[in-house]
Amino acid sequence: MKYIIANWKANHNIVSAQNWFDQFSQAVRQGRVLNTDDLVVILALPYHLLVPGAVFAEKLNSRYIHLAVQNLSQTEAGAFTGEIAAENLKHLPVAVALLGHSERRRLYKETNQDVAQKAVQASLQGIQPVVCVDESIYQQQAQQFNQQDLNQLIVAYEPPSAISTSGGQIPDAAQVGQVIQQIKQTYQGSPVLYGGSVKAANVRDFLAVADGVLVGGASLEAEKFIRLLQQAG
Ligand code: PGA
Repeated sequence: MKYIIANWKANHNIVSAQNWFDQFSQAVRQGRVLNTDDLVVILALPYHLLVPGAVFAEKLNSRYIHLAVQNLSQTEAGAFTGEIAAENLKHLPVAVALLGHSERRRLYKETNQDVAQKAVQASLQGIQPVVCVDESIYQQQAQQFNQQDLNQLIVAYEPPSAISTSGGQIPDAAQVGQVIQQIKQTYQGSPVLYGGSVKAANVRDFLAVADGVLVGGASLEAEKFIRLLQQAG
């Protein structure tokens, strides 16, 4: 089983997102998106799109699309202006939380400790944490978790220089595979995904060495993402 996580970042408004959902739904109806149990497709949406995203996913009437958030508060619900706590997401079909993305670490100064606290909050609400790391931090990040919790995580290996909007230097899939094996050992066999400039043309290479992929830029247009899924399936 492979995970494909579309990370929309701070892109799309309710109108452009609805167009995306409509195009994707049409492609499913036309049989252009394979409904295979081997792929778990997860949309990591900005919060304002979770409700239309939930309606879209439900209308597809399949287990095919799951929803994720791109961040969470490290606190419980309460007097924390501007935060979204895992508890606030109750009754929304949010299955996954993407945590500690390199953009959040770099721009909003999130630490390994913050990310671990966020993961705990997510788990308490039954939301699967996906913790993003690179070579330089994966070990220190692992130390923030109890040994027995490590293999409950999904890890995403994202070299910051590979991200399409900050360099887009696409690494060699074989090298990625080696780093992923090291990360897997540290995280006691947790699934490890790869992210950074994944697109239709290279998704197969990365799926051959990783348990899935995190897709930013190539998920923003429905047709591009559909082409990527066609290659992945
Ligand atoms: P990218 O982004 O696919 O646009 O490189 C990936 C990510 O930042 O998660």
